[in-house]
Amino acid sequence: MTNDILKYLREKEYISGEVLAQKLGVSRVAVWKQIQKLKNMGYRITSDQNLGYCLLSRPDLLLPQEIQRGLSTNYIGKEIFYFPKLKSTNIIAKEKALHRAEGINEGTVIIAERQSAGKGRLGRKWFSPEGGIWLSIILYPRLSPSYISRITLMTAVVVVKVIEKCTQIKTQIKWPNDILINNKKVCGILTEMSAELDIINWVVVGIGVNVNIKRQEFPKDIRERTTSLKEVLGKEISRVKLVQIFLQEFEKYYGLLKKKESFTILNEWKLRSHTLGKKIKVNIGEKIVTGEAIDISEEGALILKKKDGELIEIISGTII
Ligand code: BTN
Repeated sequence: MTNDILKYLREKEYISGEVLAQKLGVSRVAVWKQIQKLKNMGYRITSDQNLGYCLLSRPDLLLPQEIQRGLSTNYIGKEIFYFPKLKSTNIIAKEKALHRAEGINEGTVIIAERQSAGKGRLGRKWFSPEGGIWLSIILYPRLSPSYISRITLMTAVVVVKVIEKCTQIKTQIKWPNDILINNKKVCGILTEMSAELDIINWVVVGIGVNVNIKRQEFPKDIRERTTSLKEVLGKEISRVKLVQIFLQEFEKYYGLLKKKESFTILNEWKLRSHTLGKKIKVNIGEKIVTGEAIDISEEGALILKKKDGELIEIISGTII
C-alpha cells in the first residue's frame, strides 16, 4: 500500500488523509500508519491539520518504487528485489536464477544498499559500503557460452556511457571490465554463468559502482587505486537516476547482443579502452604473458602481440 500512497502524494502539494483513505478504500488510521512507514524509509512528509499530507523529498535509497518510477524499460528492472544489507547481490541473483520456471524472469534485478561479503573477480573481496550501487541482473540469453566475454564488455560500455551522461566525467575501460577515472577504479563488473556445452542456462551480471563514497572510507590497501564519483565531482549524485539510466542503456545494448550485433559494442569498447596500444603483462592463471595489447577479437578476447611477433588471444586474465 505504501506504493499506492506514494502515487497520490505529489511533491509540494497537499492531499488530505480523508481523500487518500477514500482513494485506497482504507481507514484514515491505516493511511497514517503507512505514512509513518514511509517516513521511516526516509521519505520526508509533512502533515497539516487542515491540508493533509505533503511529500517534501524522497530518500536517495535504491528502493524499487523509486527506480521503477519513470523507468522506460520493457523487461530489465521490471522485477527488483531490494535489500538494505545482504552478503552479495550476485549470490542472491544466482540462487534466484535457478528458479526460472517459478517466475524469475530475464531482467530481474537484485539491489542492495550495502554488501557484507561483496565479491570481486578471481575470488577477491569487493568493498561495498552504503552510498554505492551494488546490483546484479539475471539474464537468460539464448546464446552460446562464447558470448560471455561480450556480455561483460557490453556492460562496461554501458557503465561508461551512463557515468558520462550523469556526470560528464570521462572514464576508461581497463580490459576486461574495470572502469577507471584517472587510472583509479570506480566500478567493477563480475559476470557469472551456468552453461552447457553450447547453450547458456543463466548469466548474472554484477556491477559495483563507487558513487557517494568518501575517499577516507576506502580501506587503506585499496585507497590509492580506487576512487568514487563523489570524490571526483566533489559532491553527491542521485544513485536512483544513475540506476535508471543504467537499466535503460543496458536493455538497449543487451538487445544488440541478443541479435548478435556485437560490432557496435566492440567498437565503443575500443574507443574507451585504457588497454589497447599499451605494453602490458597479463596473468592468465598458469603463467604471465607480456606484449602489446593490439586489439579485441570479435569474441571479446584481448589480442596480445608478443615481442617475437606472435599474436595470442586471451579470453580471461588480469593485467598486472
Ligand atoms: C571486480 O573485481 O572488479 C568485480 C567487482 C564486482 C562487484 C559487484 S557489486 C554487485 C555484485 N555483487 C557482488 O558480490 N559483486 C558484484
